[in-house]
Amino acid sequence: MNDLVKKYLEELEKLESTGNLRSLKNISNLDCKVNLSSNDYLGVSKKNIPRPKGNSFGSGSSRLLTGNFKEYDLLEKELEELYENSALFFNSGYHANIGILSALSGKGDLILSDKLNHASIIDGIRLSKAEYTRFKHLNYKHLEDILQNKREQYDRVFIVSESVFSMDGDEADLQILVQLKKKYNCFLYLDEAHALGVRGLKGLGLAEEKGLIQEVDLLVGTFGKAMNSIGAFVICDSIIKKYLINKMRSLIFTTALPPIVISWNYIMLRTIIKMRMEREHLMSLAEKLRNKLKDFNIKTDGNSNIIPVIIGDSQKCVKLADYLQRKGFLIFPIRPPTVPVGTSRLRLSVCADMTWEEIEDLPILIKEFCNEN
Ligand SMILES: Cc1ncc(COP(=O)(O)O)c(C=O)c1O
Repeated sequence: MNDLVKKYLEELEKLESTGNLRSLKNISNLDCKVNLSSNDYLGVSKKNIPRPKGNSFGSGSSRLLTGNFKEYDLLEKELEELYENSALFFNSGYHANIGILSALSGKGDLILSDKLNHASIIDGIRLSKAEYTRFKHLNYKHLEDILQNKREQYDRVFIVSESVFSMDGDEADLQILVQLKKKYNCFLYLDEAHALGVRGLKGLGLAEEKGLIQEVDLLVGTFGKAMNSIGAFVICDSIIKKYLINKMRSLIFTTALPPIVISWNYIMLRTIIKMRMEREHLMSLAEKLRNKLKDFNIKTDGNSNIIPVIIGDSQKCVKLADYLQRKGFLIFPIRPPTVPVGTSRLRLSVCADMTWEEIEDLPILIKEFCNEN
C-alpha cells in the first residue's frame, strides 16, 4: 500500500477502535417499521401530492447566468409574502450557512456563535475574515458578558444561533436574543432548519411562534427537513439580499437547482403552511415520548420533536442502535464529531405520520438494554 494512503487507513482504524467509524448504509435493505431518523417531520414524503409537470431536471448554469428561471421568482415571492421581508433562495442549508456570514462579515467584525451550532454555521464562520467567539450553549449571561467586554471594539457584530438545536432538541430563547441584539446593536442570525414546518401556526418557525419574525435580521430555513425536498432561503432586508447576490460565493459559484425542484418547493411550501393539525399531533406525540423516557430515568433533553437519548460512550451507542433496529426501529447512533466527545446519543426524530402505538415500546427497550449493558 502507498505510504500516503496508509496514513488514512491508520486514522480510519483509530475511528473504528473508538466506535466512531461511519459508513454509508443502503437503508432499503433495513427492514424497520418505524423510521425515527428522518427529518421528514410532517410525514409529507408519504402524502400523495401531485408532482409539477413540464419542468427541466437541469438548470444549465448558476442563478446569476441562465439558471434563474421564473420558478425562483414565484418561490421567493411566496416566501416574501409569508415572512413580510425579502427572500433569497440557495441550493441547500449548507450553501446558505457557509455563504451568508462569510459574505456579510469581514475584518473588524465579530461573530458570536452558540457552542452547539451546526457544522455548516461553523464552516461559514471559518470562511469569514471576522473574529469569532463561541458562547456556552444557550447561556445568554455568557453571551452578554462577551458583548459588554467586546462590542465597542468591533464594527459589526453577528449573534448566531439555531432556533431548535438539531442534536439536542432544545431551543433558543428568542426574546432574550432579540433584547441583546437591540441593546448591543448587533445582527441576529437564526437558523430555523429544525423549526421550519414544525413550529408556529403556519410552520414558519420558532420566530413565528414567538411573534418575532420581524426582529430577526437573517432568518435561514432549509427545504431539506420538514419540506422533504432540497434548497434553503434567507429572509432579510432588501439591501442585504442585493449584497448577497453580489458577494455570496456559494450562491454565485454553483449551478442553480433545477426548475422542477423549485416548483416542487413552491408546492411543498403551500402544503406545509396548512398542516396545523399535523404540527399539533407531532408535538403531543413527542411530549408523551419524552415524558415516558424521563419516567424510566433515561437521560434526555429539550422540548421539541427531536428527542436525544444521551448514552455517552460511542460503542455502547452503536450497539443500542443496532439492537433497536433489530426490534424494528430505524435509529442510528450520533457520535463525535457531530456531537461533543462523551455525549454520543440516539436522536429520536418523532414525525407526524407516527402513532403512539408504534413508538410506545421504545422507552422500555432502551431501559432493558441499558440495564444489561
Ligand atoms: C441546523 C442546520 N442547519 C443547516 C443544515 C444544512 O441544511 P441542508 O441539509 O439543507 O444542507 C442542517 C442539516 O443538517 C442543520 O441541522
